[in-house]
Amino acid sequence: MMKQSLRHWLATVIATLTVSVCVAADQANVVILATGGTIAGAGADATNSATYQAAKVPVDKLIAGIPQLANVAAVRGEQVFQIASESFTNDHLLTLGKRVAALVKQKDVDGVVITHGTDTLEETAYFLNLVVRTTKPIVVVGSMRPGTAMSADGMLNLFNAVSVAASLDARGKGVLVTMNDEINSGRDVAKMVNIKTDAFRSPWGALGMIVEGRNYWFRLPAKRHTANSEFDIEQIDRLPTVDIVYGYGNVPDTAYRAFAAAGAQAIVHAGTGNGSVSNTVVPVLQELRGKGVHIIRSSHVNAGGFVLRNAEQPDDKYDWLVAHDLNPQKARILAAVALSKTRDSKELQRIFWEY
Ligand code: DGL
Repeated sequence: MMKQSLRHWLATVIATLTVSVCVAADQANVVILATGGTIAGAGADATNSATYQAAKVPVDKLIAGIPQLANVAAVRGEQVFQIASESFTNDHLLTLGKRVAALVKQKDVDGVVITHGTDTLEETAYFLNLVVRTTKPIVVVGSMRPGTAMSADGMLNLFNAVSVAASLDARGKGVLVTMNDEINSGRDVAKMVNIKTDAFRSPWGALGMIVEGRNYWFRLPAKRHTANSEFDIEQIDRLPTVDIVYGYGNVPDTAYRAFAAAGAQAIVHAGTGNGSVSNTVVPVLQELRGKGVHIIRSSHVNAGGFVLRNAEQPDDKYDWLVAHDLNPQKARILAAVALSKTRDSKELQRIFWEY
């Protein structure tokens, strides 16, 4: 009797070990690159949902705070930066992009998650969408409340991000952003509200939702991205300077002149309405174009602009560009990436239509 129960016990142990090794062997490997932001923030009290310090909690603590991550992937973290995202520079973008590109080349990496402040999250997500040549999921995630607050959103956002990054069906969809149960395209999504958990929206709708670790897809990206991009972070060592001037009633030409004098290769005019340009500003934009500075008309309307060539201004005549549906901050990213490759107006406009 004793021998039989020992045999049975051994068989059970071996079966259990085999299953756990199989599960472990089948689990996707996901790397979390932490950069700071509110998702790594901490406030003094649980009622502080808006008053806190961003970029305090290290990546290993973020991971340790969500033991359920082990159910969806084999996760490891790297602390790339620990900053609030309004302080991101072009150099931060290049450093992060090159690290992501190196990781996705590794056979033992199936997906990458970037934890990030929400202020410029949309810029980083779009940048990676343009320059990292891969079909592996890259998911950028943040939170609107620090982990110390009641109803903090960071834990579930991060769990969802890792779950999506570990998913085979997330491959080939470009850089994704998981916030507030939605899966948005890194190209389209923008921070539309500065203090609510449903802050991130795409003018053209989310790609899908993630609920209890399962992805539900409703649409696919239409523009070129990642593996289908003509841009490659490995061939970009600096980003040309592109600046943005906000359009409003009574706007003078001061800022346009100052940015051009400081070396901007292009200026994004964040126009009212249809990328409209005040008649007091048209002459300086024509002058700067004549000096080789590219002019890009975009719109600063909140829920999604749509700027057409030659509608509000004779772009063909002035040799200006339009940002299509990109908001000014995304137009800056695309212009900087595009100018790293070409200064030809027709090529630049093609790029704005295609990306
Ligand atoms: N300072 C802002 C940032 O790091 C906080 C906003 C946030 O991360 O939600 O983007």
